[in-house]
Amino acid sequence: MSNKMWGGRFTERPDAIMEEINVSIDVDRHLYAQDIAASKAHAAMLSAQGIITANDAKNIARGLDTILSEIGNGSFDFKRALEDIHMNVESRLGELIGPAAGRLHTARSRNDQVATDFRLYVRDTIDETDAALAAFQQALVARAIEHAGTVMPGFTHLQTAQPVTFGHHLLAYVEMTARDRGRFADARNRLNESPLGAAALAGTSFPIDRAATAKALGFDRPMANSLDAVSDRDFVLETLSAAAIASVHLSRFAEEIVIWTSPLVGLVRLSDKYTTGSSIMPQKRNPDAAELVRAKTGRVIGALTALLIVMKGLPLAYQKDMQEDKQGAMEAFGALSLAIRAMTAMVADMVPDQARMKAAAGEGYATATDLADWLVRTLKMPFRDAHHVTGRIVARASKRGVPLHQLALEEMQAIEPKITRDALSVLSVEASVKSRTSYGGTAPKNVLAQAKAWLKRLEKERKLG
Ligand code: ARG
Repeated sequence: MSNKMWGGRFTERPDAIMEEINVSIDVDRHLYAQDIAASKAHAAMLSAQGIITANDAKNIARGLDTILSEIGNGSFDFKRALEDIHMNVESRLGELIGPAAGRLHTARSRNDQVATDFRLYVRDTIDETDAALAAFQQALVARAIEHAGTVMPGFTHLQTAQPVTFGHHLLAYVEMTARDRGRFADARNRLNESPLGAAALAGTSFPIDRAATAKALGFDRPMANSLDAVSDRDFVLETLSAAAIASVHLSRFAEEIVIWTSPLVGLVRLSDKYTTGSSIMPQKRNPDAAELVRAKTGRVIGALTALLIVMKGLPLAYQKDMQEDKQGAMEAFGALSLAIRAMTAMVADMVPDQARMKAAAGEGYATATDLADWLVRTLKMPFRDAHHVTGRIVARASKRGVPLHQLALEEMQAIEPKITRDALSVLSVEASVKSRTSYGGTAPKNVLAQAKAWLKRLEKERKLG
């Protein structure tokens, strides 16, 4: 027999190759809950509008509920010959309730159906991602409060630059994550319009109520243009962009964990739970989870790039190319979810080596800027001159092989006679971080205040959520 759905026009079965390239059920089966929800909303609306009878609508809803539980409990028989989730569900509905199943597709097409299903799916994904990112922020904030005053080296060019606090460093990721969440929220806001009822591309001659189905599915309103409704996938692109940026943030943090836990650096230790050993080198503790977070970023960026390329040459309206929107996106969202959860776990797990951090913070003349600032503040030197004088003092200390605070006062005075003992008080790493009280700066009291403000904000959000 030729295809049930379009057998009127077709007499032959598709070739095996045709079926293989066309089939999407392995991917779009993941849309089953959304597909069934959308069909139930559509059937209820058709009945309310007098387009199908109340009895047919009741049977359709009952049949769809049966299918939902069949798929949920694994007893549903997905058929590749039926191509996709929409036709698998409709075909099974026919088996369950008979000819009334054929009325469900009135005033609808798979084009608006798939656009609706995938919007619902992406919306669910955004909500799950947001919750995971909030948990990540909570983990970071808890550690930031604990380490508001823990001094570590801050880097630029990966060279020791100025002392900062570990809490300050962790709060940087809380801020980044807040922007990531904002991007997901923006994407959600824009995607939350219903394509259902756009039908194939031109709308329908039936007196449907698109506002009703939009409302039933939690959309803010129906999409205003039927051609647009079935042919854009910008909501996937936008969400993938947010996912790609979030992944890049996680990847940078993962890279830092890899660096910090290297024995060469030794600033942080991860427990056995988040490291692996080597089959040959007994001493090894490899930060595999962090490395894989770093690597998963490739999948997310890849999915975004792939879909941009799929979409870029497509004329309106629906083109089958768009079927390729789902697999990469679903894999990317899965990879991001795993990466967020792994980073959250590692944040809670990691133990900074505070003595090593403090020692490293003072290495490389990291408080040189503090001395230059003292010269400006106390001797009213222009900063450029102070920079030059400090540079000469650093060179002298380096020649003697001592850190700045161990260079004799006389040696400093040989370079700048007006330097007093008071200058030595700014050279410790603790004094350095304590002095950075400008808004957003690394002073422990700033960091603690910021961390506590975040804690409050996240707790409030959790209560509202
Ligand atoms: N499996 C299809 C997709 O994901 C559903 C829509 C098919 N529409 C069509 N006109 N062939 O895009």
